[in-house]
Amino acid sequence: MDASRNAAPNYRQALLKAYEDEVAGVTYFAELGKRYHDPRAGRTLALVSELEKVTAAALQPVLDRHGITYRDTELLYDLGREEAQAQVEGSWPEFVAFMLRDYPPYVEAFRDMERIAPADDRPALHLLTLHEVAIVAFAELEAAGAEDSTWPLRQFLDAALPKR
Ligand SMILES: [Fe+2]
Repeated sequence: MDASRNAAPNYRQALLKAYEDEVAGVTYFAELGKRYHDPRAGRTLALVSELEKVTAAALQPVLDRHGITYRDTELLYDLGREEAQAQVEGSWPEFVAFMLRDYPPYVEAFRDMERIAPADDRPALHLLTLHEVAIVAFAELEAAGAEDSTWPLRQFLDAALPKR
């Protein structure tokens, strides 16, 4: 049976948005990383960009399975870059505060998607949740002044990419 017939329209929309946001996130975070003079910020946001790429790659087959069409990667990369360029210039701590405020609701939204997902989709959606958990965990550590604040990001990548 066609998997897409079992999926609610809002689930399909949420999948599309999640996937396209992750693809755009690849260039959004990479570009943003270039805006901060602090090399620590640049290195960190390059890692976040990697998380976005891994997550988008995991989601893509799910969308394909459901026959959901999505926009071209290069177009989404352009959108991500433009969004970073349009973002009001602020300090690195201000951006970390923004992450702490704006990203936790995504964890909840992704957990909700996992709950309504067909079984075949759950591993990719769990990865989606875990990548957001890792980013929020990083932001909490960074805001608290932890020296090694990026370990949740590295741990996620090590788990997702066993042969790095
Ligand atoms: Fe993301």
